[in-house]
Amino acid sequence: MKTTGILTTAMFSLAFAGTSLAQMDVEDQIEARQAAYQFMSWNMGKIKAQAVDEEVEFNAQQIMAAANAIAATANSGLGALYSPDSSMDKADDTRLKPEFFEQPEKAREVGGNFVREANKLQEVAANGDKAAIAEQFAAVGKSCKACHDNFRAD
Ligand code: HEC
Repeated sequence: MKTTGILTTAMFSLAFAGTSLAQMDVEDQIEARQAAYQFMSWNMGKIKAQAVDEEVEFNAQQIMAAANAIAATANSGLGALYSPDSSMDKADDTRLKPEFFEQPEKAREVGGNFVREANKLQEVAANGDKAAIAEQFAAVGKSCKACHDNFRAD
């Protein structure tokens, strides 16, 4: 009986998650993805200030927290915030180019690279080596830019 209860709860939560995703309208998707990028950008800025520009004292704990936040966001399934009617030719207040849906292989490639580099940054940050962190920070930055160059309007 107990197991059934837990199972039912799990199934209900799953069904609920599915429903809420399906119901997320285009405006909410756009807001959520912009917020996700802003949040990653904030965390990238912290790493840059400490490991690259060295204008803020290096703090391995803070760098690790920032890298974890970026990796978690990258792995959170951002693709769900990209419904085909959310590009700038169809929706307001977005800079997503329609090319994102016209070149799905390229979109997968730049998205995959980004997740890989973000995961690697998380690994490197856990080791606390400043030079290695600076190097991997640059690699992540490049992967952000690759997507922007292809799919984000100026
Ligand atoms: C898979 C493609 C992709 C990747 C990877 C990506 N971005 Fe973006 N980014 C976009 C798109 C598309 C937009 C525009 C979103 C919109 O307006 O709907 C955007 C918007 C932004 C914005 C502006 C958000 C706003 O408020 O309008 C910032 C800041 C940003 N990205 C930073 C980053 C950083 C930092 C990274 C890497 C850590 C990154 N992005 C990785 C595609 C990407």
